[in-house]
Amino acid sequence: MKRTIKTLAAAGVVAVIMGAGVVHFGVFNVGADEPHSDPVYALLSTARDRSIAVRSRDIKVPDLSEEALIREGAGNYNSMCIGCHLAPGLAGTELSKSLYPAPPNLSKLGVDGNPAAAFWIIKHGIKSTGMPAWGKSMADPYIWGMVAFLQQLPSLDAEQYTALAASSGGHQHGGGETKMHNHEGQHDGEKGVVAGHHDANAPEEVAEADDHHGEKNSAHAHDQAAELSEDESPEHAQPPGGEASNAAPAAPATPAAQPKTHTHDDGKDHTHAK
Ligand code: HEC
Repeated sequence: MKRTIKTLAAAGVVAVIMGAGVVHFGVFNVGADEPHSDPVYALLSTARDRSIAVRSRDIKVPDLSEEALIREGAGNYNSMCIGCHLAPGLAGTELSKSLYPAPPNLSKLGVDGNPAAAFWIIKHGIKSTGMPAWGKSMADPYIWGMVAFLQQLPSLDAEQYTALAASSGGHQHGGGETKMHNHEGQHDGEKGVVAGHHDANAPEEVAEADDHHGEKNSAHAHDQAAELSEDESPEHAQPPGGEASNAAPAAPATPAAQPKTHTHDDGKDHTHAK
């Protein structure tokens, strides 16, 4: 008996040391371009599913069939989600292709049969995946609007999607949205995406008119920069700065403004873009 306890204790110590070694020597690759091993993936996705199931089981689902609610959800979805979750007629974006885990294509998946879980996920986000906690800036009724819309989404074609989003009058959150919202990377990303796929999503009409106009150009710059190789990425952070709002894509103006970084990159930008 004593011997068994001693053996178990020794095994425990060895396991802890090995675990510490794995961490210390950087054995685990946190790079998003290398998938998890099968056991790690299975562990993480089970933990995710159980966590969501337990936390969403008491959520009461309201009536999601109201047309006004669905329409409002369409506007919010189109403004904030398509960069990662796509839409009918939009097959992939830089974000959707580069994130790991990959954001599911919600134009096919919808609410995945569980509106309460979808609501919980949208409100609270999912750690270490890129899925934001939208409840930090959106009140519950607006989140339900997106759930209501997501229930319909798989049955919409590109034309119906665009018409519905356009008829929503853009997005309106309610709750804590402020300037932060306007300057979020996703918003730029989405604009960029949309700007690059004019016919697919008619974003210009859909997006609200005024407060984003300045960003349109920076979104372009952002997008183009994203297509460049890694060594360009530091400049990626630059465009949202002062000059970006209207001058970023104008090659002749920018090098003068930011000679250190932009001379070379903007040149490339433009070659790539058109
Ligand atoms: C920056 C990228 C990104 C944005 C923007 C984003 N999501 Fe996600 N979302 C993700 C990722 C990644 C996952 C998958 C997480 C995982 O694998 O656990 C996810 C998961 C989800 C899921 C769960 C899908 C399922 O059934 O497995 C829902 C629902 C969802 N997102 C809704 C939204 C909505 C609505 C918006 C816009 C308000 C949004 N997301 C914006 C990245 C994003």
